[in-house]
Amino acid sequence: MVGQEHYFSADPKVASRPRTIRVVLPDRFFELETDRGVFAHGHLDFGTDLLLRSLPEVPPGELVDVGCGYGAIAITLALRCPDARVWAVDVNRRALELCARNAERAGAVNVVPVEPDAVPDRIRFAAAYSNPPIRLGKAALHDLLLTWIARLEPEAVATLVVQRHLGADSLATWLTGLGHRVDRVRSRGGYRVLAVHAATGSPHDGSRVR
Ligand SMILES: C[S@@+](CC[C@H](N)C(=O)[O-])C[C@H]1O[C@@H](n2cnc3c(N)ncnc32)[C@H](O)[C@@H]1O
Repeated sequence: MVGQEHYFSADPKVASRPRTIRVVLPDRFFELETDRGVFAHGHLDFGTDLLLRSLPEVPPGELVDVGCGYGAIAITLALRCPDARVWAVDVNRRALELCARNAERAGAVNVVPVEPDAVPDRIRFAAAYSNPPIRLGKAALHDLLLTWIARLEPEAVATLVVQRHLGADSLATWLTGLGHRVDRVRSRGGYRVLAVHAATGSPHDGSRVR
């Protein structure tokens, strides 16, 4: 990346160098174009792969992939559930362009790649998914997660994958403290897959992460 540029720059300045990768899952495979300036250039992130292998059945309806990058999660959801509409949101325009091209190439016609503000306010989601941008910093990350969790239907769940050494357990503890039930769905290779329930009960202490 150039200078202080991050994978979440709106318009990456780093020269493009496309590389195509193959996503191979137990139920399907497809190709994705990746590029410099976008998270996980030239490879599928281990955490993303773990999330895709840990997902329960994908519900129909409105879904959101928060921080879609080049689209691995959004496209998998869309292919697994043709009755869903998957909003693929990102602030990085190079990522959104890749996601749109990748969705078309994979035949995932039900992916809608857009900047976050372009998702109509009235939409409530049947589920959310994210390999979130931890490197945003704690406060910005918390704001981002709460923004999208607040838009879930009451019974819905947000499935997140977070690296343990980047704060997965403290994130779970924080969400639990806000009253969300958080289940640890899977733990592997230093990553946690967390299921965060939209409904809030009384705030719990961190020891209630299941
Ligand atoms: C860890 S990457 C995951 C990318 C992709 N989902 C994957 O698994 O390969 C996080 C993504 O969040 C995006 N992002 C950063 N800030 C964001 C924001 N405020 N709203 C939506 N996406 C954001 C970044 O640009 C980046 O593409």
